[in-house]
Amino acid sequence: TNNPKAVIVIFGATGDLANRKLYPSIYRLYRNGKLSDNFAVVGVARRPWTNDIFRDKVKESIDNFDDPHIDKDEFASHFHYNPFDIQDLEHYQALDGLIKELDTNYQTEGNRLFYFSMAPNFFGTLAANLKSEGLTQTEGWTRLVIEKPFGHDFESAQELNEQIRAAFTEDQIYRIDHYLGKEMVQNIEVIRFANALFEPLWNNQHISNIQITSSETLGVEERGRYYDSAGALKDMVQNHMLQMLALIAMDMPIKLTPAEIRSEKVKVLRALRVFDEKEVDEHVVRGQYGEGTVNGEQLPTYREGHGVDPESNTDTFVAAKLMIDNFRWAGVPFYIRTGKRMEKKATKIVVEFKDLPMNLYYDKEHDTKPNLLVIHVQPDEGITLHLNAKKGDYNASSTPITLSYDNNAKDKMNTPEAYETLLNDCMHGDSTNFTHWDEVALSWKFVDVIANVWANKKANFPNYKSGTNGPEEADLLLNKDGFEWWDVSPEE
Ligand code: BG6
Repeated sequence: TNNPKAVIVIFGATGDLANRKLYPSIYRLYRNGKLSDNFAVVGVARRPWTNDIFRDKVKESIDNFDDPHIDKDEFASHFHYNPFDIQDLEHYQALDGLIKELDTNYQTEGNRLFYFSMAPNFFGTLAANLKSEGLTQTEGWTRLVIEKPFGHDFESAQELNEQIRAAFTEDQIYRIDHYLGKEMVQNIEVIRFANALFEPLWNNQHISNIQITSSETLGVEERGRYYDSAGALKDMVQNHMLQMLALIAMDMPIKLTPAEIRSEKVKVLRALRVFDEKEVDEHVVRGQYGEGTVNGEQLPTYREGHGVDPESNTDTFVAAKLMIDNFRWAGVPFYIRTGKRMEKKATKIVVEFKDLPMNLYYDKEHDTKPNLLVIHVQPDEGITLHLNAKKGDYNASSTPITLSYDNNAKDKMNTPEAYETLLNDCMHGDSTNFTHWDEVALSWKFVDVIANVWANKKANFPNYKSGTNGPEEADLLLNKDGFEWWDVSPEE
């Protein structure tokens, strides 16, 4: 088989992400025949765990998988634990020894995948020590997967990047943006570039505006300490929202290679208008949740959350009007919106087409709607196309209708989870769905201006109730351009 062979070394093996996402993803790859016997996982962290404790934790993390034909003990036997102190160089020697031993036992051909999934302030030291102690030179390939946050502004991101680049080359580095592993985010390109229908209309002649929403019902839960120093702008906009924007706005690449796709995405981010400080208030709305009811549950304010400053000025909601200054998009607003503790968990992209020059069918009762193409990213996956058609028997009026494709119905069980897809890509050396440094740098430059303005001016928080769609200003942002947020669900 051409299944990848590798020793996967996970730093932060006792952490939440490893438990919730990484072990289940490795399991799914294994179950689906994407990993053969030639793999081992080394869990690295400070705690003095044994192999047995580690394997029990791994099995717990896959508890809800019910695959009678899979021997979970056999699966867990591929996992090995290595207690570790990042500062202690002798520990690197021991780790190297373990990796070599596993390489021989599992015949992984010297391939090593390092996965950094712990507090980002250690990334630099860790990378430097891995190199100085010789762990990055092997007979096979060496790759590094690195979790967010990638810095907290342009400068810190650049510093981190330099530290990592001193140990790994750009083509060895896989920066995770897990939205790029989502099935429907990957579908954006296919919908756009495999259909004759959309591309000719995909410009400022025919599209009036584009809306990207990613709302969550959860608050910041146990992550208050991290989140309070980040906020929605840095946590969601700098990465996930701008990545979706780049995919929806980019030109068609000449080939589907990582370099060609990246180059088109980078062009979008270069054309993204960076506001000057005076424009921020006009284009960007920030919010922070107050108390309210989500799914019938009465919940307290953000400021009362664990690890949060009681007078916190941190944004848990952002809406913005972005402009892309290129030939294709001149004049077309891209509205983005993301927040915690909102009415529902939903990510979607709405492309609104311009009205016809004249509407023969307009009447008050049977209003026509603009044509919309909606990509439903989650929780329901699908595409809906909103048109107008005749529906009554006696009159010639028009009614909005919906054509819909439901991606869930296809094969819900087998839709790969984001992390599963990304791990698989990385092991095959495919960096298409990872973010290149150029994209990270441009995104931070855009975000930094806004973050600076906000840091210097206290907001009037809280300004939206939990369980709503954010502050009223987010609606006004569109209303003043004559638009409104489309809240279409796949069934409509
Ligand atoms: C993460 C953010 O990157 O994305 C979290 O740090 C957020 O704050 C999460 O909750 C949302 O991801 P998803 O896949 O649930 O939409």
